[in-house]
Amino acid sequence: MNNFNNLIDMDDYTVSQWNEIISLAEKIKANPMEYSEKCRGKIMATLFYEPSTRTQMSFQAAMIRLGGNIIGFDNPNNSSVAKGESLKDTVKIVSSYSDILVMRHSQEGSAKAAALCADCHIINAGDGGHLHPTQTLTDLLTLKTELRRLDNLTVGLCGDLKYGRTTHSLVKALSSFPNNRFVLISTPSLALPSYIKDVIRAHGSSFTEVDTIDETIKDLDMLYMTRIQRERFASSEEYERQKDVYCLTKAKMQYARPNMIVMHPLPRVNEIEVAVDDDPRAAYFRQANNGMYVRMALILFTLTEKPKIRPLLMGEIHNNVCCTNSKCVTQTEKYLPHSFINRGDILICEYCDERILL
Ligand code: NCD
Repeated sequence: MNNFNNLIDMDDYTVSQWNEIISLAEKIKANPMEYSEKCRGKIMATLFYEPSTRTQMSFQAAMIRLGGNIIGFDNPNNSSVAKGESLKDTVKIVSSYSDILVMRHSQEGSAKAAALCADCHIINAGDGGHLHPTQTLTDLLTLKTELRRLDNLTVGLCGDLKYGRTTHSLVKALSSFPNNRFVLISTPSLALPSYIKDVIRAHGSSFTEVDTIDETIKDLDMLYMTRIQRERFASSEEYERQKDVYCLTKAKMQYARPNMIVMHPLPRVNEIEVAVDDDPRAAYFRQANNGMYVRMALILFTLTEKPKIRPLLMGEIHNNVCCTNSKCVTQTEKYLPHSFINRGDILICEYCDERILL
């Protein structure tokens, strides 16, 4: 049983709780000084096993602006991880020093693994190519600010939909609001994983898959551009084949609606021409700024909301079955129970969502 407010996946909170966090972020943004002492005496740890600019610094700035303090590392090579310490031991210790622990890690399911042994709240700041829920809260706040709604949207997602964890969490979240439609713009090899498509279907939302921006840009309320995730490819040849396939240019923006917005979790490489930055519809820098306010709201919410006591693993333990995803946290953290949701003909890994055919 776990009695901390963890944010590992968007569905750790209800839609009304997401709305509460977003409304709180709006209030903080309008009047930040009113919140400057709210976390006095609290400590947030940021454990970043993977590179980050915005997520890490916006979390740190958020805690500092709330009057709290921060500890952590942004390079595991400067910590005992370099000596071979397990995720479990690092998290166990750091969580005993802090009130809230924000973690980014290259392995899928690592945030859930951390929550299993932590003595404080865990926030997933990105687990490999799997999920990135705090980016999604940032994206929801941006949509609400820019378009005034989270429903009845035609959303185009373009680029690396396979490894792009931001798109996975965003699609999961937007599927929970009525009448959202998704246009998935990618090459076949970087298509959205089927478990995310199943979430769209389960909510009764619809999606189409296309391979160019040009054929669809005129229909969109929001275009979400993403970076091709070089670090997740099995070979550099495959990355070379996929990189630079999509580029949003000023010329393409002529065909977009006057009120369409362009979002991007950033960093950008070549997928948005710099000339687009001056277009008022380019919302990505405003989006990054929203990230700090939404994380202030999330920290406050996490520390003040009454925790829902529930098990972190709800499936069956099959210690004789190994997850087939080579990037799953269970591959290296051998002490983790092999927990799966049993769907009859498949087992779904509870850490990384990989499906294993029986
Ligand atoms: C994204 C990430 O790390 O997943 N960046 C971010 O958190 N703002 C997207 C990316 O790295 O391409």
